[in-house]
Amino acid sequence: MSSTGASLYSNAASAEISPILSSLQEKHAKYRENFNGKVATYIPELAKADPRQFGIALVTADGKTYEVGDARHLFTIQSISKPFVYGLALEDYGQDYVLGKVGVEPSGDAFNSIVFDERSNRPFNPMVNAGAIATTALIKGEGHDDRLTRLLEMFGRFTDRAVEIDRSVFLSEKATGHRNRAIAYLGLNSGMIDDRIDEHLDLYFGQCSIIVSARDLAAMAATLANNGVNPLTGNRAIEEQYVKNVLSVMHSCGMYDYAGEWGYRVGLPAKSGVGGGIIAVLPGQFGIGTFSPLLDDRGNSCRGIQVCEELSERFKLHMFKTRSITRSVVRRRYRGEMVRSKRRRTREEQSILARKATSLCVYELQGDLFFGTMEQVFRRLMPELASVEYLILDFKRVAHIDDCGWEMLGRMSEMLARSGKRLALSYLPPTTGVVLRRENAGKWTEESFFPDTDAALEWCESRLILEEQAPVGRYGVLALDAMDIVAGLDASEVALLQSLVQEVRYDAGATIVREGDPADSIFLLAAGLASVRLKLGDGARTKRLSTIPPGVAFGELALFDGGTRSADVVADEPSVCYVLSITALDELAARNPGIRTKLLRNVGRELSARLRRADAEIRALEE
Ligand code: DON
Repeated sequence: MSSTGASLYSNAASAEISPILSSLQEKHAKYRENFNGKVATYIPELAKADPRQFGIALVTADGKTYEVGDARHLFTIQSISKPFVYGLALEDYGQDYVLGKVGVEPSGDAFNSIVFDERSNRPFNPMVNAGAIATTALIKGEGHDDRLTRLLEMFGRFTDRAVEIDRSVFLSEKATGHRNRAIAYLGLNSGMIDDRIDEHLDLYFGQCSIIVSARDLAAMAATLANNGVNPLTGNRAIEEQYVKNVLSVMHSCGMYDYAGEWGYRVGLPAKSGVGGGIIAVLPGQFGIGTFSPLLDDRGNSCRGIQVCEELSERFKLHMFKTRSITRSVVRRRYRGEMVRSKRRRTREEQSILARKATSLCVYELQGDLFFGTMEQVFRRLMPELASVEYLILDFKRVAHIDDCGWEMLGRMSEMLARSGKRLALSYLPPTTGVVLRRENAGKWTEESFFPDTDAALEWCESRLILEEQAPVGRYGVLALDAMDIVAGLDASEVALLQSLVQEVRYDAGATIVREGDPADSIFLLAAGLASVRLKLGDGARTKRLSTIPPGVAFGELALFDGGTRSADVVADEPSVCYVLSITALDELAARNPGIRTKLLRNVGRELSARLRRADAEIRALEE
């Protein structure tokens, strides 16, 4: 437990550059001498709380923690346990069943109100004690201990540490909680709670006695803000579908008979506890946890309310303050004639792509995909869809896709397929943090997903080529005269060249050319597949620069500068190369200079085509 003394602002070093931390410090300094309110006494053990204790913590939806004052001081969670137990009950029984037992209407009553909704016989909502006890009664498990273990494990998923209960607070409430006992019996009477009353109450008193800090509360709130995934651990704490249910009841009922005014002023789903804690959630952004045991007469922490109200006002946090989504979700779009995959292509393939690659369209998306942003994507796409055959959506910079986003993507895929078009998705998990939800995304095939946009481009280009050209005999070996580099050589010249080349076979994974080796020959790939790879950093990682198919030459710069190899070339599959040594070519050229001239012209054409494509690509990507 931290003290209220000199170490108050342990992370003060960064205060000057963080308006968030300095605001928390400001609020803390402003209210720490404010002793309005009273500590709870109706549970005798709670009366021992020190009124000076005061901590504030904020955890962002991506896991950054800000904390000031007694943010690590431990106290009992009390009613803040209620929304989380409600979430577990929803996971155990589903929404419809739970709604049959506990309503979701704000009652405007105090937390310990004994009034039930007369029309339905249900407690009004899971935040008042009547509803909370009925909710706890739903928690599955074999007897009290097993059920308590389940509860503690669930809370442990929301914090980033194992939690336990404070036995003395538990016993203190068990000994004095007659009103809650009466409420439980009323629930039994109305059929909302089964007759294991003592077990249910022990479980309820147990959940209220769980020990937390303001920092824990902020982590729990941030987990709700982060769609149910704890941003500190990366682990899911609650099924995504129930997060909105939990936040809804917090919003309408979390602050009891102050819920309306809280929603109006602060505008963040919240929950308070008589231990002195408050949590507040800004969905998608962060969670706040405050602790100060001085309570107002509704059982809400006085300092906590002040801090949340002022932070909301200062940073315009109200949930209903619309945050614009006008920033374009489409970061960039380009067509296949401007940006090509890294696969080298034979001349014939190049000419097919020159005609057809314009029907290949890439949309790079960014941010979150949900109804509003997906609508923008469709709107951008519609006018050009008629001329698109292959659409690649690049998710490299997409942070989250909600259920609606997946649904719309799935529909889009189906509709494109119906008109003979294909949708390819790149950079989905594990490359990005986006959760892959194929099950609710229509009829995806394995061919819909690519590790990166280059792989998607390559696949689409190959399909375009296949529409016009039979596949090159994959396991056959191309003859020398089928190589692009010998185009224009007559039969006798090819025969001369043939006498000079060496046919070399490589196993898959073999290094054909090694970076740094002397560049003393050129390679003509006659069968298989090879890739040019650049070593990065200490050489443990490599980047693929291009893929070379049969018919294409590599290492051809040896014809010009004879220096050393600038990258590795590795056989991706068993491959065959015709290897032509520069010395042998020089000797041949002395007798027959025309051959070298023709080879050089072919290489020069290929290089200039690549340079032009690189220019077009830079232009497209700079737009
Ligand atoms: O049911 C009770 O009385 C307590 N264990 C919890 C009440 C509570 O925290 C009310 N919230 N402000």
